[in-house]
Amino acid sequence: MGISRHFFSRREFAKTTLAASVAAMTGSLAGCALSMGSQAAGVVAAPGRRIRTGVIGCGSVSNQYLPVLTQSPYVEVVSVCDIRPERARDQAAKLGVAHHYPHIDAMLAGEPFEFLVDLTDMQEHEHLNRQALEAGKHVWSEKPIANSLAAGQELLRMARGKQLRLWGAPITVQSPQFALMARTLAAGSLGRVAAAHADYGHEGPDWAPFFYRKGGGSLPDLAVYNLTTLTGLLGPVKHVTAMLSIVTPHRDIVGAGRIEVTEEDNAMVLMDHGDGVISHVQSGFNYFNPHGHDGSGEQRHTISIIGTAGFMGLVGYDWLPLGVDIATHDQPQLARQATDPQGYTWQQGAALAAECLATGRELLATPEHALHVLEIITAARESSATGRRVALSSTFDRPVVG
Ligand SMILES: NC(=O)c1ccc[n+]([C@@H]2O[C@H](COP(=O)([O-])OP(=O)(O)OC[C@H]3O[C@@H](n4cnc5c(N)ncnc54)[C@H](O)[C@@H]3O)[C@@H](O)[C@H]2O)c1
Repeated sequence: MGISRHFFSRREFAKTTLAASVAAMTGSLAGCALSMGSQAAGVVAAPGRRIRTGVIGCGSVSNQYLPVLTQSPYVEVVSVCDIRPERARDQAAKLGVAHHYPHIDAMLAGEPFEFLVDLTDMQEHEHLNRQALEAGKHVWSEKPIANSLAAGQELLRMARGKQLRLWGAPITVQSPQFALMARTLAAGSLGRVAAAHADYGHEGPDWAPFFYRKGGGSLPDLAVYNLTTLTGLLGPVKHVTAMLSIVTPHRDIVGAGRIEVTEEDNAMVLMDHGDGVISHVQSGFNYFNPHGHDGSGEQRHTISIIGTAGFMGLVGYDWLPLGVDIATHDQPQLARQATDPQGYTWQQGAALAAECLATGRELLATPEHALHVLEIITAARESSATGRRVALSSTFDRPVVG
């Protein structure tokens, strides 16, 4: 038996993490800020109302999202949709969703709903999100929201113009571990911050070709988590330098056979946050990882931040954090904190968005932040292709400032 057979696939992981996700949805949701955020406050629905929700994309990650959504007190899933109609039909049957459709046109013309959750291929998000906004729907999108910063900003402008909301994964900034790290930095406990490193990788998905094709790649699929966390902690990035490569030029994909890999499967990204702070994200689809897709066994520091008077390490992955180790000049022994997830799970983003629509409780994750991370990804590609350091234009407000 090959080592990889000991690993959890994401599908197996879906089953193991389901119970935790659903449990997290009972009662009030974790990680919501009470203040109104950067989008229009006037679009909030009546408190406590269930938001009529349609889910498009009934593949692997829908097994993570749909059980959380169907158990949320703020959500009524009225329809599901997939261009592979049997997938939509099967999810509808499994979860008791009344309507299923084979195309977004039929979904939009069918059972009325107000909130679209987009769980399709990465390359499909931009046009589906646009079509949903044009039809007057609020949107939660898996990453990325769009294929470029300009397109994403146009979608956000359209949303605002129509008094609609637009959000995107990931939601690493909602975790209590992120909050502790942000507050530790704000308190100055690490002294003058100099450097940070984050890494995340595994052997790559084997169930869909889009991960390896243009608009896919390991940057928007994997590095996006670390990029969101590090920018959330250290602030927006001024300049990006990157080297990207393709390590495995062909992949065997279930149902599609052998495909050519045309987007990066190996990435090194250097980020200049200003004030001398430099961070580094390393990510890819060729990483031996004894914990596979199931990060629950990961005890390493996958994120570390170093300053003149202290060190801080996130235990486990930022999408499934297990604690934060901190050592300072005054207390040089590493001490572990924030081991309680407090209800946070990475699968709850769309349900948190529905809660926001129903109650006005804002998320810490914002579309501006998601679009800044998207700009880092496209800048990394430009830097790698040209050998140049690339300046960024977008910015966002930090989610936790003290
Ligand atoms: N699989 C995971 O564990 C996981 C975890 C986190 C995030 N994500 C993200 O979720 C998204 C989907 O990934 P996945 O692993 O579920 O892929 P998948 O291939 O398993 O599922 C995608 C589904 O979308 C459908 N689809 C594609 N284009 C469509 C269209 N135009 N209209 C309707 N349906 C369409 C496909 O038929 C497929 O069933 C990606 O953005 C990925 O980065 C996946």
